Order: sequence, then structure tokens, then C-alpha cells
Amino acid sequence: MILPIVAYGDPVLKRKAKDIPEDSAELQQLIDNMFETMYNASGVGLAAPQIGKSIRLFIVDASPFAEDDDLEENERETLAHAKEVFINPTILEESGDEWDFSEGCLSIPDIREDVFRKPNITIEYLNRNFEPQSMELDGFYARVIQHEYDHIEGILFTDKLSSFKRRIIKGKLSNISKGKVKVDYRMRFPNLTKKR
Ligand code: NI
Repeated sequence: MILPIVAYGDPVLKRKAKDIPEDSAELQQLIDNMFETMYNASGVGLAAPQIGKSIRLFIVDASPFAEDDDLEENERETLAHAKEVFINPTILEESGDEWDFSEGCLSIPDIREDVFRKPNITIEYLNRNFEPQSMELDGFYARVIQHEYDHIEGILFTDKLSSFKRRIIKGKLSNISKGKVKVDYRMRFPNLTKKR
């Protein structure tokens, strides 16, 4: 089932999400619905707060990046298989010199801005079978995970921009929260004033 994606301005996106105590049939169903929702919106990652659930869960499928001919063969190989469910994750370490990349977010349609992040991460998490996993990653897979991880910490990529950049996009963000944006997937807008 495709779920509505929560738009910028909803308080759930600013909340630090809670750990998931145990596996359940509902959780497995939710994960399936999140994948359907993400693919329908052509996203490469989706975090539970974005569908209105303040729990520590996000999904990633960064395989579309594997088509990028500018990347090295080994990174493309990693990205081709970069599909995973992250439950109760912890980023243990981030290292290296920050690099910038133009990020977008399904909750903030039509805005892309350069965001600086460290290239290397070590992450521990439970997969969808609740088996403990650990990965060391870099490149685009790491970046998508960092973006999604921020979501469960209540942080949006727009929070990482300079105050100057934020001022420039302020009006656009306000419009998004009111539903004044063209988007071709289901969304829920926090400040929608009236229905047409
Ligand atoms: Ni996002």
C-alpha cells in the first residue's frame, strides 16, 4: 500500500524517533509499504518519520546510482546491491574530509541543495529479520544512509544549510508545508489551509 509522505513543516519530522522494541507482523507490513511508497516516488531512501511514524527505521535502495558511468567500477558494484532495511541503527563513526553533493528529500519536493558530509561511516543496525549487522561504507551508499539517519534524529538536510541559503528557500519551504507545490506522489501537508 502506498502511504502519504509527510511534508516539510510536520512536527514528526523534527522529533527524535524511538527504538523499536520487537519484530511484529505489523512492522513487516510497514516495511513492505515503505518500499512501495519509496519506489512510487522514485526515491532512494525513506525514513519512518516521513510516513508519520516516529520510530527508528529507514529503508534504502541506492541501486539507481549504480547506473552512473562517472563512478568507479567497485562503487557501482556496491551500489547495485545497496538495498537494505535499517532498524534501531547507530552510526558509530564518521570520518574523512567533508564532500558536498546536491541532496533532495521526498518530504521537501522541488528543492535540491549542496550538503556537506564526511565520506566514511561505520553503522550498526538490525536488518528486517532483526539480525545484528555492521557495515563500513563510503560514497553514495554512505551518503544516503547519513541522510536517512538524520531523519530518525529529527534532522532535515535543510537544517544543514547556511543561514543565508535557508533564508533564500524560506518562502519555498513555507509553500511546501501549505501544499503549494507540484508533486506526483501522495503527500500529507501540515499547513494545508483549505481544500479545493
Ligand atoms: Ni529525506
